[in-house]
Amino acid sequence: MHPKVRPRPDYSFILFMSLKDNIDMQRLPSHIAIIMDGNGRWAKEKGEDRLYGHLHGVESVRNIVEGSAELGIKYLTLYAFSTENWDRPEYEVSGLMELLVDTIRNEVPTLNKNNIKLHVIGDVDMLPEAAKNELRDALNETASNTGLNLIMALSYSSRWEIVRATKNIAADVMAGKLHPENITQDTIKQYLTTKDFPDPELMIRTSGEYRISNFLLYQLAYAELHFTPTLWPDFRKENLYNAILDFQNRERRFGKTGEQIKDSETTA
Ligand code: IPE
Ligand code: IPE
Ligand code: MG
Repeated sequence: MHPKVRPRPDYSFILFMSLKDNIDMQRLPSHIAIIMDGNGRWAKEKGEDRLYGHLHGVESVRNIVEGSAELGIKYLTLYAFSTENWDRPEYEVSGLMELLVDTIRNEVPTLNKNNIKLHVIGDVDMLPEAAKNELRDALNETASNTGLNLIMALSYSSRWEIVRATKNIAADVMAGKLHPENITQDTIKQYLTTKDFPDPELMIRTSGEYRISNFLLYQLAYAELHFTPTLWPDFRKENLYNAILDFQNRERRFGKTGEQIKDSETTA
């Protein structure tokens, strides 16, 4: 291991109580974002087709959405399909789209039962008609729920989002609705697809890849990053608790010194 890489504490030794009992409920991240990766490799390990991995990935989505709602997490963003994923083999893309339509249709009653409000970010115009229709219905049917906000990133990429925001800012400047000298960080936030959500405080990526893959580049500025080798179809609530415990063990400095942070904690 590189000498500068700090080994991540492994909390699985806490056998006498569940990982969940160790979470400080006063210091939960309000927004968790997850890059759900590794479905294809999971299937390959089992000698199965990639779509089999995606099918099992849906089980993990259910489990993690339920786990997040139980904890009282306010926002959960799941990266399900990137703009770059359109370039995958045709059979995989169409299989994924079918799975998407079926999953949304089947899950709406559970979302409502658990008071979960669905949101979508991404270039949804690219989605097939059937998927767009299911999504529109699901968004409407869950719109008045007040618990967990479940944000699905579908046909999403951060560069797509930033280009879109820039075009809209330029158009509003041309129309005289916005003056360049008044543009602040908050203005930019208002033009992003995530304008209604706080920035993620914890970003999890499964499958052992250490990259962001065009996900929330602006919004992750100060997120704590948690990488795990677990493949997405194997990811369950206990893995989520482990990631939250890892997050709670970090010192978030936001550019300040460690001493400043400790001082503000003792005076708070
Ligand atoms: C993540 O799993 C799901 C999507 C990107 C749609 P992958 O399909 O990327 O699985 P690997 O990375 O090939 O194992
Ligand atoms: C990122 O996974 C996108 C999603 C999980 C939806 P990819 O599998 O597409 O990312 P790369 O290609 O390995 O960076
Ligand atoms: Mg992948």
